[in-house]
Amino acid sequence: MRAVARAQPNIALIKYWGKRDSERNLPAVGSISVTLDELFTRMSVQLSDSPGADTLTVNGEPSAKMLPRISRCIDRVLGENRPAANVASDCNFPIAAGLASSASAFAAAVIATAAAAGREFSSAELASLAGAASGSAARSLYGGFVELENSDDDDISVSSLAAPDDWPLSVVVAITSSDSKPLGSGEAMERSRETSPFYANWVSNQGVDLDAARTAIAERDFRSLATVAEHNCLKMHSVMWASRPAIVYWNSATLNCLQTIRALQADGVDVFFTIDAGPQVKAICAPGAEADVRAALDAADGVQATMRSGLGPGAVVEQAA
Ligand code: DP6
Repeated sequence: MRAVARAQPNIALIKYWGKRDSERNLPAVGSISVTLDELFTRMSVQLSDSPGADTLTVNGEPSAKMLPRISRCIDRVLGENRPAANVASDCNFPIAAGLASSASAFAAAVIATAAAAGREFSSAELASLAGAASGSAARSLYGGFVELENSDDDDISVSSLAAPDDWPLSVVVAITSSDSKPLGSGEAMERSRETSPFYANWVSNQGVDLDAARTAIAERDFRSLATVAEHNCLKMHSVMWASRPAIVYWNSATLNCLQTIRALQADGVDVFFTIDAGPQVKAICAPGAEADVRAALDAADGVQATMRSGLGPGAVVEQAA
């Protein structure tokens, strides 16, 4: 009746931004990400003998804020008529700062809950359950390069495009602020859909970027992947900036990091940036480029710390009893 699962966050290279059905949390666009290895969420789900109130701790502290979303996620996996769950989540990176902590948390929650209850689900069912909790969580079920496909039917599908060892890129994360983000990504996406004049264009052009990224990954073509990923990231932020009220997650150090990365590129270093719903900058590095990238970002004005990670595996159940 207890299981522990571990899942890693993922960083989108081609972004999910916008929902076509917010009730069921279906994305408006497909997306492509890389799953990390060094950063993780470990979640223990213990099912009691009877129904009752769930409990949740995050890094040892009770978390009233996340509890309703975790409870709804467990409801979806087991049905609403279920035993109470005691959930303990531990995360080795800053939460709610644009580092996709919800992706690793909900991927871990879904598979730990299923294992605690001794329930088997197909990969498609797991993707739908994780995606219903948080769109990006479905991608953390898989390792390496992962695509979330958005078709017109009711479900999403997730598949692996390449294993971590097929193309061992690494990611340096530059932390420019450890404050919680002012606006959650779900709410921000809805505001973009409702108010941004660029939103419809963003959705209709996503297929072109997905095709280019898929080809670049298949051919291990770093420069092409860099070009399309930076374009897609800046396009997503342009949609946000043009929303009303504007959604601006960047700070001045975010922009310093972009300039640092542009300077590295001018020197021939294989690196590109991406930024999610927060002020941190993720620098994706070709094998061999990481040390130079990290040193340069550590020295950028306003960077508080850097973290690094290689690419890692999908979510796994570590214990079930
Ligand atoms: C900018 O998966 O957090 O990181 O489905 O509302 O939980 P919800 O959204 P979430 O959004 C992630 C947005 C992003 C881009 C991405 O990861 O693709």
